[in-house]
Amino acid sequence: MTDTTFTPRVFSGIKPSGGLTLGNYLGAIKRFVGMQGQMETVYCVVDLHAITVWQDPKELANMTREVAAGYLAAGLDPSSSILFNQSQVAGHAELGWIFNCVARVGWMDRMTQFKDKAGANAEKVSLGLYAYPSLMAADILLYHATHVPVGDDQKQHVELTRDIAAKFNHDFKTDFFPITEPVIEGPATRIMNLRDGTKKMSKSGESDMERINMTDDADKIAKKFKKAKTDPEPLPETVEGLADRPEARNLVEIYAALDETTPEAVIAQYPGAGWGTFKPALADLAVAKLSPISDEMARFMDDPAEIDRILGAGSEKARAIAEPILRKTYDIVGILRS
Ligand code: TYM
Repeated sequence: MTDTTFTPRVFSGIKPSGGLTLGNYLGAIKRFVGMQGQMETVYCVVDLHAITVWQDPKELANMTREVAAGYLAAGLDPSSSILFNQSQVAGHAELGWIFNCVARVGWMDRMTQFKDKAGANAEKVSLGLYAYPSLMAADILLYHATHVPVGDDQKQHVELTRDIAAKFNHDFKTDFFPITEPVIEGPATRIMNLRDGTKKMSKSGESDMERINMTDDADKIAKKFKKAKTDPEPLPETVEGLADRPEARNLVEIYAALDETTPEAVIAQYPGAGWGTFKPALADLAVAKLSPISDEMARFMDDPAEIDRILGAGSEKARAIAEPILRKTYDIVGILRS
């Protein structure tokens, strides 16, 4: 139905709801940096998403700055990418409302992340948490983004974005919104919890030992990998031997992602190695890759005014793309503007 060609454009975002983890770095930020320069890139700190669960107002601005510091420290360059925080571009909330009127309740009911987060408490969580995926669709489509790099846990939300775009286009007999591609690639699309290889590594897990934080120092990183749960077997001789060994597979995938190689190459380097060999090697690699980033993050966090300036300038550039798209959306829907 669509013969409109859309300029290739990347959009992605991270919630400022707790510190950044190794999962955010390998599954998202490192890949954001890799796409910079290949096409137009727009990266957001999605503060309106963070408040779908309670955030301390005294902490929120600083957590927003910390995600921005993580972007900058990892190599996102505000002169090549647009970096901003979501709430400074009002169009996200406005298009989010339009999409609340396009998305169907049945679609939202199928969102597994909502079910996981709400758990048995679904009656008590905020309406925002339920509507969250339609705001995420607005984040993406407000920029007519064609590519969205995310970790595996966001796949269903990007698919919903495609459904919303397709329904909007169908209902209003237009081809205005692109059908966005999720970009879920590489060895680190799902970094698991270090204490339980069947659960995702997340900012909000109960114990700090389950995750590596981007602000952890060398001793902490070494200790967490040393204590990481594994099975009693050594590493296999081939990558097939990692099947049904979630903890072992996770550590090999983390190594591969940090070293920018494949799990096959890691196994070829450490065939049959014991954990006494592999864990210290992994810890050394992680420290070598992460400490320069955490040092740089700390340096940015020492100058919050500079971060605010970068986010402010990025918001202006983001608005310049978003405003005509939002205006055109209102025209298509038939909303009166005086
Ligand atoms: P958030 O803030 O939970 O996570 C940010 C990004 O990090 C990835 N990620 C992981 N990747 C691999 N392994 C892990 N353990 C891991 N944990 C997190 C996530 O997949 C994500 O890419 N709803 C989104 C934020 C969002 C967004 C958007 C993303 C809002 N609007 C528009 C893309 C486009 C979220 O909560 O991500």
